Amino acid sequence: MEHWLITGGAGFIGSNFVNLIARDSSPQITVLDALTYAGNLQSIDSLIVSRRIRFCHGNVCDKQLVDRLFAENQITHVVHFAAESHVDRSILGAEEFIRTNVLGTFSMLEAARRHWKGEDKRLFVHVSTDEVFGDLALNAPAASESNSYAPSSPYSASKAASDHLVRAWHRTYGLPTVITNCSNNYGPWQFPEKLLPLIICNALENKPLPVYGDGQNIRDWLHVDDHCEAIRLVLRRGIPGETYLIGGRNERKNLDIVLAICSIVDQLLGRAEGSTRQLITFVSDRPGHDRRYSIDPTKIERELGWRPSRNFENSLLELVCWYRDHAPWIDAIRSGSYRDYYKRQYEGRA
Ligand code: NAD
Ligand code: DAU
Repeated sequence: MEHWLITGGAGFIGSNFVNLIARDSSPQITVLDALTYAGNLQSIDSLIVSRRIRFCHGNVCDKQLVDRLFAENQITHVVHFAAESHVDRSILGAEEFIRTNVLGTFSMLEAARRHWKGEDKRLFVHVSTDEVFGDLALNAPAASESNSYAPSSPYSASKAASDHLVRAWHRTYGLPTVITNCSNNYGPWQFPEKLLPLIICNALENKPLPVYGDGQNIRDWLHVDDHCEAIRLVLRRGIPGETYLIGGRNERKNLDIVLAICSIVDQLLGRAEGSTRQLITFVSDRPGHDRRYSIDPTKIERELGWRPSRNFENSLLELVCWYRDHAPWIDAIRSGSYRDYYKRQYEGRA
């Protein structure tokens, strides 16, 4: 029986992934998550209660705990999502990013190395980002697997460092690892500090919509479900030692997305056309702000048969409706009460 260890499974992408795979009857699933400010158990609560998955509250840097999880559960697959993920926070203070993203990945790799000696049919999937390739010129081709690393922020530097560790553990110790580098995800359960949920929530509540610099920075947007499907394919058919780039061929300027959200909110709330966009406020630029990211997903399309299925415009409308309909979830984040959720629901019950 396969047993998958999903780190960071209470975060945005991790929880969407867990909800996707828990629909299948196998494998067994254990989620390891430290429940930092970005972790929120409500997104996977029903799966824990119905015992479809096991939840372990803990830190990927805790070597003894990770060791115990491998030993007790005979882990066969790791999907390593756990990370500090927000660029702005990394600029304000990088230490936690180095600890979790670099040392935490080291701790996970070492545990896998200790427990997987001589075992076959094992795979360690390291979930990483297109930001490791750094700023792309407007006329440059999309980044491919052969681009060199040139991270700009403390966040992307820490992710680049973790990618290098993963590659080295494959080459030196033969650990069966795969790296995936994905572009910007959007979808439900994303913490409202990131561009899309922040703009949507503020627009719904008539608050200012902060746009960094001139708003002309470009990101390649992919629905989180498409990312999760790609990771599921990699788990099944990915080749150890390989890297797969995952992107939506969907480059958009930040300002264009903000304007699109404003139009959707006008329609949904019956506001006069053009009124929500009055809330746009151009603010100081992010230091070191990369102008453009772009990913060429040809390899994963050709070798694993992956294709994104979501249309951006339709999904944006769905997303605005999702945040409108999940106001209590947002309120709990704003008040901080979501951080007591684990205590209230689970402590003393395990
Ligand atoms: P997130 O910030 O929403 O979630 C991170 C999760 O990891 C949280 O549940 C948090 O509690 C947990 N965590 C943090 N530190 C931990 C630690 N030391 N031990 C155990 N758990 C810890 O992040 P996300 O947006 O879901 O991103 C998940 C992964 O995907 C990250 O590795 C990120 O670099 C990568 N990624 C994100 C995007 C994106 O657009 N969000 C795109 C490409 C790659
Ligand atoms: O590219 C993948 C990366 O995408 C992931 O590795 C990161 O974990 C994830 O956070 C995301 O990073 P970005 O920095 O691209 O995402 P963010 O939502 O913070 O910003 C998207 C763009 O919007 C970026 O150009 C900065 C801009 N921005 C962001 C915020 C929060 C604004 O203009 N205003 C804002 O308030």
